[in-house]
Amino acid sequence: MYRDASPTPLDPALVDAVRSARNVVVFTGAGMSAESGVPTFRDAQTGLWERFSPEQLASPDGWEHDRGLVWAWYQWRTGLVRRVQPNAGHRALAAWARDTELTILTQNVDDLHERAGSTVAAHLHGSLLAPRCSTCAAPFPSDGGLDVEPSGPIPPPTCPVCGGDVRPGAVWFGEALPSEAWDRADRAAAACDLMLVVGTSAVVYPAAALPLRALDSGATVVEINPQSTDLSAAVQYSWRTTAAVGLPALVDAVQRR
Ligand code: OAD
Repeated sequence: MYRDASPTPLDPALVDAVRSARNVVVFTGAGMSAESGVPTFRDAQTGLWERFSPEQLASPDGWEHDRGLVWAWYQWRTGLVRRVQPNAGHRALAAWARDTELTILTQNVDDLHERAGSTVAAHLHGSLLAPRCSTCAAPFPSDGGLDVEPSGPIPPPTCPVCGGDVRPGAVWFGEALPSEAWDRADRAAAACDLMLVVGTSAVVYPAAALPLRALDSGATVVEINPQSTDLSAAVQYSWRTTAAVGLPALVDAVQRR
């Protein structure tokens, strides 16, 4: 996990910019949860990602092709997320929100922000904890997923309302984002004066448009990521550090008088 990346020091001008902001949005991606032990999407992967493409596992076509495979993979991820804990970055955001107007928007389908004590304004890509019927959309309770990686497909449960197959609560490639979550996120991005973009490769649209929306509206945008991304050149501050190292250091510096 980026042992070789050389972290850059915290820029005092960045601390001043964050300290003077009145309306802060934090936009997070898979890198936010990496130090909790949740693999990201586009870094070196383990387990099922090695054998199947994301499109096979996270698209309507993949679901139609092999529902048992897709259900098994999401059950494995759900179990993985249940067994890990929020990291110091999640906890720093929750602590910061106690004295600052902070809006968290996430692409992550885990609940690690919430378990650290934060309120998430928008889960743009849905939630592992909210399966629903693929036919009638009735919610179906999550059973917490699997404790071990599955050895093969697992048939999805049957909806008690209509008898359809229950599907994962995540948004798949090619699907529309939940409209309420998107509207909230778009409004927040347009209204903020500072956006922290943490742990996203910023390549999956429309979510990746949110930092650009903030920039267009005159906000300062700060990227926290150990690697450069498509966004790095466009933002005012691109800090090479990780979520669990950078966020506590930043919040500590901002709160120190
Ligand atoms: P990616 O896997 O594309 O990108 C993860 C980013 O996190 C990369 O830029 C890494 O450099 C960075 N990163 C890794 N470790 C980090 C750490 N410890 N701290 C901070 N940053 C770190 O994940 P996303 O950008 O979230 O969509 O991917 C976007 C969407 O693509 C996902 O929500 C998912 C996926 O397909 C759906 O499932 C619809």
